[in-house]
Amino acid sequence: MSQSLDIRTSPLGAVNAALTVFYVAEGARPSGDALQHWTSTGLDWDETITSAGFKGKQGQIIDVLSAGGKRLLVLGSGSSSRNTPLNGWTDRGGSLMAKLQGIRATDIAVLIEESDASPAAIAELAAGLRLRHYKFDKYKSARPDEAPALMTITLHVPDSAAADVAIANRGATVEGTLLARDLVNEPANTLGTVEFAARANELGELGVDVEILEQDALEKLGMGSLLCVAKGSDRPPRLVVMQWRGGKEGDKPLAFVGKGVVFDTGGISIKPAGSMEDMKGDMGGAAAVTGLMHALASRKAPVNVVGVIGLVENMPSGSAVRPGDIVKAMSGTTIEVINTDAEGRLVLADALWYTQDRFKPRFMVNLATLTGAIVVALGHEHAGLFSNNDELAIQLLNAGLSANEKLWRMPLSPAYDKLIESKFADIRNSVGRPAGSITAAQFLQRFVNDVPWAHLDIAGTAFGGSNSEVNTSWSPGFGVALLDRLVRDYYED
Ligand code: BES
Ligand code: MN
Ligand code: ZN
Repeated sequence: MSQSLDIRTSPLGAVNAALTVFYVAEGARPSGDALQHWTSTGLDWDETITSAGFKGKQGQIIDVLSAGGKRLLVLGSGSSSRNTPLNGWTDRGGSLMAKLQGIRATDIAVLIEESDASPAAIAELAAGLRLRHYKFDKYKSARPDEAPALMTITLHVPDSAAADVAIANRGATVEGTLLARDLVNEPANTLGTVEFAARANELGELGVDVEILEQDALEKLGMGSLLCVAKGSDRPPRLVVMQWRGGKEGDKPLAFVGKGVVFDTGGISIKPAGSMEDMKGDMGGAAAVTGLMHALASRKAPVNVVGVIGLVENMPSGSAVRPGDIVKAMSGTTIEVINTDAEGRLVLADALWYTQDRFKPRFMVNLATLTGAIVVALGHEHAGLFSNNDELAIQLLNAGLSANEKLWRMPLSPAYDKLIESKFADIRNSVGRPAGSITAAQFLQRFVNDVPWAHLDIAGTAFGGSNSEVNTSWSPGFGVALLDRLVRDYYED
């Protein structure tokens, strides 16, 4: 059983928790309620910081145990509230949670003394606490040393009503990120195409309109590209369309499209065994889109948005697509399948075409764990950004910085596009090793018309990076906070 976490707010004033926490910036001293708490320990501030070597730097701690079983943690925050960027508060929440888990605290009061800690900053602190608290341990048998069943954190803040509103709003995005993590962390034996579609269907409860297109519908639409990937698997393909109509009727929607390969063996061009288990996460793009729709609907975002995910499994079998096979996409473009392991672009080709054709969106952003080459280029620090539109690209780069889910722009050009020409068909799905992420992006662009479009190659960021201040699970849920930020900052009025 995972521990439950309850985060609430309260005005500053009387505090009677087992553990009290407050922050002191570099060179500063406790003030207000924090000072009262400090004074009640009977310790002298200057003597204590000298003997503890405490300077208020980020990560420094004074830990005081007093009579009556009470405990006080003074945490160095480095910069003052005023000088801390919002995503610095998220990290602050993350590292506090790590400390709280480490000492098995259950009843915690956090004093946010400074009046310049805005409700938005407090909401980031709460977000960091929850994001770091997340564990994917549902398949671990219970152990005797398990954490206590409940952790309660009360944030004592200058304006608790305003903080509550901000925390609930930011909390909607956190829930979306956690949903994406759950989907990516889940193994493929329990999360196939049908199971994933069922999870997406649950968004109906939040007011999202969900349609699930099955094999026959996809055949009628002529999605020969997406369908050929699913041919080798016993699991049927699904295309899920999620619509959130929070904006004005008739306003064109924003569109998000996700690669949802529930498992990628490579197909007939089978992958080597090493790390193949990671390919349960090859639906990270679809998970991000689903998590985003969850976030937007829970916070009732005033905007029209459509999320489309292509769900397939890439398996080798007697019915699988072969290298050399030629398939026809919904757009009419013919594709020579050179390598059955370059399947993500085949799925997205039809999902992108369908989305722009049906919805005429303001823009289309797709997310995909598309290429190993982007991991070689950018590691786990940045996702690759490809776009036909500078304005959209800049918005995404900015949103990435704010959300601390960073992007790095990569090029597209006619010279790269030429590389995907095929001897037998209009285009081929795989070229050589050079510029592997770019030729994949050029392939996608063949299915995009005039609409502003961006492709995020999240192969390096959707799973398997190192732990961060706000995540210790395999999947960080990359993309949800970033795209939620994009929508909030540029498309809500
Ligand atoms: N899902 C993989 C890409 C991937 C690799 C994601 C590592 C996450 C971690 C994708 O379907 C794939 O296999 N791409 C091939 C393309 C190649 C055959 C042109 C690749 O990157 O090797
Ligand atoms: Mn593949
Ligand atoms: Zn793949």
